[in-house]
Amino acid sequence: MKPAKAFNIEELRLAAKQRLPRSVFDFIDGGAEDERTLRGNREAFERVRLMRKVLVNVARVSTETSILGKTAKLPVVIAPTGAVGFGWRGGDVAVAKAAEAFGIPFTLSTSATATIESIAEESSGRHWFQAYFFKDREHCMGLIERARQAGYDTLMVTADLPVGGKRERDFRNDFTIPFRFTPKNMLDFATRPLWALDMLLRGVPQLENLGGMLDHHANTGNIVSSVGRNQDATLEWEVIKRVRDAWPGKLLVKGVVHPQDAERAVSVGCDGVIVSNHGGRQLDGELASFDALPGVVRAIGGRSAVLMDGGIRRGSDILKALASGAQAVMVGRATFYGVCAAGEPGARRALAILEDELVRCMQLCGAQSVAGIGPELLVR
Ligand SMILES: Cc1cc2nc3c(=O)[nH]c(=O)nc-3n(C[C@H](O)[C@H](O)[C@H](O)COP(=O)(O)O)c2cc1C
Repeated sequence: MKPAKAFNIEELRLAAKQRLPRSVFDFIDGGAEDERTLRGNREAFERVRLMRKVLVNVARVSTETSILGKTAKLPVVIAPTGAVGFGWRGGDVAVAKAAEAFGIPFTLSTSATATIESIAEESSGRHWFQAYFFKDREHCMGLIERARQAGYDTLMVTADLPVGGKRERDFRNDFTIPFRFTPKNMLDFATRPLWALDMLLRGVPQLENLGGMLDHHANTGNIVSSVGRNQDATLEWEVIKRVRDAWPGKLLVKGVVHPQDAERAVSVGCDGVIVSNHGGRQLDGELASFDALPGVVRAIGGRSAVLMDGGIRRGSDILKALASGAQAVMVGRATFYGVCAAGEPGARRALAILEDELVRCMQLCGAQSVAGIGPELLVR
């Protein structure tokens, strides 16, 4: 598709759906179990209404802001997403370049289909690294060290995945990582011959930073992704202290929703938390991220940064999150759909849509700058 033809994120989602086999699209689009939290992330934004101010000079508004002490052109960060290469070959680098063009940080996932170093070599924006902790803990500490050497300035440890969530679309579609070819998914791949041909001719993308580590430990079939199967369920706050000692840059914990956990993160020296439920892919039935945000903001009380993700599809969602006390939002599927629809131009289109909508929403609300977006603009 021509990216410019998409007027909103939903249209990029539909374009991604048209290009990809069903199993790959469902892996990206889906959530856990009944997908209540996945839907809840969107519904929470819809429940809250805006209360605008008038007769403010909004001829020029600024979306520039400071995220963890550095200037960003938008209050947005690219969330870490694994397996992007299944949706678009080279997709991790494409999204990193789009982030660079928009002056925002890009987060590389541990389960990315690009190496830590290749992102640093091929794009020169601000890079963050997301760490998972597997049973092979030393391998994970090694990845963190590689990120430090490659110049990543922020590390986030994902804490909401002690085990993989129950993602039923993936079971139904026979979708697994690493890829397993079955009669069912071969039929599915055949419906998208261009995608399938590319996989056949150029090979299946690999989780480049994990080498053979995951397969060695794989032992159960009830979690589709080897990333989920190999998580270290014994992980406790102690590990964050160890990471704090080893990591000189900014440190965030991702997946915090409980105010007590927010307190804990501050007490072990984190620079902030990310209120997140993994895009509704883990504990189904838990609170929407946007609904969990105020409790975490209160608990942190300005001592460190609060970011949030989950369900951001419109510029007005970004404004609502900032008005509720988030320093910035992260976007997962928005740019993922974009890159699947049309590569780097598609990822850029996703960011351009969000930027345009945020600017317009600020103008219509009478907010001249990010600092001018306050709770008085919301009716909960
Ligand atoms: C396909 C997919 C893969 C993801 N992979 C990771 C990952 O590797 N690490 C991680 O911390 N979060 C991962 N997430 C969660 C995102 O970082 C983020 O929390 C979530 O996508 C935000 O919700 P949104 O997609 O509605 O914006 C993934 C999400 C999706 C949709």
